[in-house]
Amino acid sequence: MEKEFRNYKELSLQDAVTQHYLKMRKNQTLDYVLRMREKYLTFDKPLGLWEAMTELNKLIDVSDPDLDLPNVQHLIQSAEAIRKDGRPDWMQLVGLIHDLGKVMFLWGCDEDGTSQDEQWGMVGDVFVVGCALPDSCIFPEFNELNPDMHNERTNTSTGIYKNGCGLDELTLAWGHDEYLYQVLTHHPNNTLPKAGMIMIRYHSFYPWHTGGSYQELLEPGDTQYLEWIKDFNRYDLYTKSSQLYDLDEIKAYYDPIAKKYLGEGPIYW
Ligand SMILES: [Fe+2]
Ligand SMILES: [Fe+2]
Repeated sequence: MEKEFRNYKELSLQDAVTQHYLKMRKNQTLDYVLRMREKYLTFDKPLGLWEAMTELNKLIDVSDPDLDLPNVQHLIQSAEAIRKDGRPDWMQLVGLIHDLGKVMFLWGCDEDGTSQDEQWGMVGDVFVVGCALPDSCIFPEFNELNPDMHNERTNTSTGIYKNGCGLDELTLAWGHDEYLYQVLTHHPNNTLPKAGMIMIRYHSFYPWHTGGSYQELLEPGDTQYLEWIKDFNRYDLYTKSSQLYDLDEIKAYYDPIAKKYLGEGPIYW
């Protein structure tokens, strides 16, 4: 039988995944996200790529019903699948680093949902803040718990946004996608192609890329984004397995690619 991914159906209210999404839906308001952007996007903490990978070896993503391995194993599994398919080196690197924004837990705290114990500000499917939450969100029954859903400025289908403004104008729930995207955007040596940066930025945006919501906010150029995301998503999702890799062994292959696109020296988080 083929393995089924993203199966949330059998989870009870007490389950850690369910509780994660309940807290995420309740706490991720427009105001919260703006505060987190202010607080975390400082780009003043140097940490090299491989050190970040090693740190991530200590984190298990509570929102993922498919995997209970340290997150770095998922990153290597994604990268190796992209490599096996003979895809470009930059895309292999994107597979390897796409979840690296979760190192936020190193300087995070329970209160922000950015710690080992409280991950609702760091991982899980994201949605747009500042407009109505769609039913395509995982656990849509939690949508009404979000205070923005009871504010007329933020509870309409376009909310604070202009019709057709495009994906790049939207503010998404705070998490590891946007964090890594911003960190790499501010990294002077970053030469990853745009497709790779989009894969990093929007891979957790399930209500859009899989749910098909937010049509009124999109612009024509977002069709290209969707193609890139769909291409990447199968490696993010369907490569999850119990196969374990040794970080030091795969480093020999990926380090030259990392240096090619991210340069030498640390990344400033
Ligand atoms: Fe992710
Ligand atoms: Fe991932």
